[in-house]
Amino acid sequence: MRIKYLLPLVAMFAIGCTTSGNSDDVDRRVEELLSQMTLQEKIGQMNQVSGGYQFSDMIREGGVGSILNVVDPVEINAVQRIAVEESRLGIPILVSRDVIHGFRTIFPIPLGMASTFDPAIVEQGARVAAIEATASGVRWTFSPMLDVARDPRWGRVAEGSGEDPYLDVVMGVAMVKGYQGEDYADPTSMAACVKHFVGYGAAEGGRDYNTTMISERALRNTYFPAFKACVDAGALTLMTSFNDVDGLPSTGNEWLLSDVLREEWGFDGMVVTDWNSAGEMVSHGFAEDLKHSAELAIKAGVDMDMMSFGFLQHIEALIDEGRLSMNQIDDAVRNILRLKFRLGLFDNPYVDESLAREVAYAPEHLAAAKQCAVESAILLQNRGEVLPLRDDVRKILVTGPMADAPFDQLGTWAFDGEEAYTVTPLAALRKEFDVVYEPGLFFSRDSDTRGISAAVRAAKGVDAVVVFVGEEAILSGEAHCLSQLNLQGAQSELIAALRATGKPIVTVVIAGRPLTIERDMANSDAVLYSFQPGTMGGEAIADLLTGRAVPSGKLPMTFLRDAGQAPFYYNHPMTGRPNNGTETLLNDIPLKAGQTSLGCTSYYLDSGYGPLLPFGYGLSYTTFEYSDIAIDKSCYSPNDTIVVEYNLTNTGKYDATEVVQLYVRDYVGSVVRPVKELKRFERVELKAGESKHCRFELPVSDLAFWNRDMEYVVEPGKFGLWVAGDSATGEAIDFEVR
Ligand code: GLC
Repeated sequence: MRIKYLLPLVAMFAIGCTTSGNSDDVDRRVEELLSQMTLQEKIGQMNQVSGGYQFSDMIREGGVGSILNVVDPVEINAVQRIAVEESRLGIPILVSRDVIHGFRTIFPIPLGMASTFDPAIVEQGARVAAIEATASGVRWTFSPMLDVARDPRWGRVAEGSGEDPYLDVVMGVAMVKGYQGEDYADPTSMAACVKHFVGYGAAEGGRDYNTTMISERALRNTYFPAFKACVDAGALTLMTSFNDVDGLPSTGNEWLLSDVLREEWGFDGMVVTDWNSAGEMVSHGFAEDLKHSAELAIKAGVDMDMMSFGFLQHIEALIDEGRLSMNQIDDAVRNILRLKFRLGLFDNPYVDESLAREVAYAPEHLAAAKQCAVESAILLQNRGEVLPLRDDVRKILVTGPMADAPFDQLGTWAFDGEEAYTVTPLAALRKEFDVVYEPGLFFSRDSDTRGISAAVRAAKGVDAVVVFVGEEAILSGEAHCLSQLNLQGAQSELIAALRATGKPIVTVVIAGRPLTIERDMANSDAVLYSFQPGTMGGEAIADLLTGRAVPSGKLPMTFLRDAGQAPFYYNHPMTGRPNNGTETLLNDIPLKAGQTSLGCTSYYLDSGYGPLLPFGYGLSYTTFEYSDIAIDKSCYSPNDTIVVEYNLTNTGKYDATEVVQLYVRDYVGSVVRPVKELKRFERVELKAGESKHCRFELPVSDLAFWNRDMEYVVEPGKFGLWVAGDSATGEAIDFEVR
């Protein structure tokens, strides 16, 4: 008997949200205003433009509903005054911006925030971003990006929470709550925009904007959960994605935007296209022309058009020709007006122009950004316990192109961060050590090796070498995809040359994605990975290198040995011929080997099977021991809750935090199932030598998935459960659901 669950597991994130006035009051005000609007004024609300002053006339005529990319409070108030005091109905414009990982105070890129496995610090970061951005007049951000990403060649892995749907849910909800706060009409509340709906991270070849081939079941089991959780958590807006899913561009996909989003999920927020994604349906070969794309987008369920101008130019004709109805326009305008009323814009349209500079870089904001950067760093290797640097290490060489890169350290999509406020690792380490600084290379793509000899010479006279490598900010983010993932330029040569000096080598990677660093790890004693850590990255890294802080970050994405292994993710289905570790590798193949003489399993002749490092992996300066892992029953009924208990002991000499992860496997399903799925995690703080008895509670309903009949059910049968420090270790505890 299958147990059907009406509300997917993510519904547990549903939280009560307050708005400006109760929803009846808001709806009444919406209807009153709508009844006064002309068609042109309705069309104007559906139009979003990038800029301020230059659209003054259009705003005065009621032709603009929202602007983006203006952050000067003076300009924002000026154009707002035109909208409110000079247009016929005085409808305020909604000011938006890509506030992706901070506004002025820049936090680690979202992939780094996900590495914290700490929703509290991520929510705090979103709250700080909202306080700083709304002080400038921005009330709508195009964040969080919820695109599950399994291919590090895709530049936008930087902007999401990695490869796991559950981590994506937790981080997405945290950001929505942080941005929007408890009262949407509070002047510091900033509307979230969950994006890009949907499947954008599955671009074929990891090449941005490329086609995706995702089944409905994969959408529902992998790509929908974070969007549904954020809708349940009250996300006020959603953005459609550039890509097509199985031939249908999301911006014109009525099943997605109406059947699923509105009918199934009950979303009553506002849907905006991505930048000209409506117009791009012509390029897709899905729309005849801009007019046709406007028709398709509105019929699908889009409310606002970002920068195609197709709505502005063609809606009136589409109505005259009977291709669109006034009801469709009214529905879109209702969603836009409802958002503006909820945000309190009609009652409070202007911003205090002195506020922006007052709140920017507030000490508590910088402290939160530093804490987030500390928790986001992942210790990948620590041979000989080189870290934390010992007290007798006094003179160090600081080298590499990312040691003093205040702009690039802020990472991709940090539009309003100011490099003058960045604390670089060089600046922070100079306060702690007798530092010799030789960059060796001047930027991450630098292949001019002449500077390496100076770094090597300097290394000979120090106690330890700390080399900072990685990626300039421009090398990840939108449209910045790579077919190779090795360190760019001569960075690997720099590390190898330093290795040859025999000095302890600490390599710190500051990058926007997982890179293929197997050989660089071999040439290093310790490796710390920091997904572009933002404004306070230098201080955070200095705290970690000195031991004032202990690494706790965990990988939100699998690290590959070679880009050719992509896409590779821990929660993959098992094949019919799983690798079994006996495979013959390239250089072991005998000459004239017979066609079937090698292992007929799923692997690569040249790079084998496994990744470099698994999802959820991360070391500490201490060690942890898991013991007495037990579940309360061996067989559960559908309405039960699985109680998982375990002991965790800090068996080392540093107080530290472990991110404990709970994985489950459904051994047999009506469709093939992932070999593991993250279902819970928690950060457990332990003093050196301390033990704690801990527990997870996992409702059996959380084992539900969309099955062969496209029902959301828990299928009875055998399951495995793991409690461990990453996705690749631990012993399974088996149980049954009947
Ligand atoms: C971009 C991005 C989207 C962003 C929007 C506005 O092309 O795809 O994430 O929010 O345009 O800048």
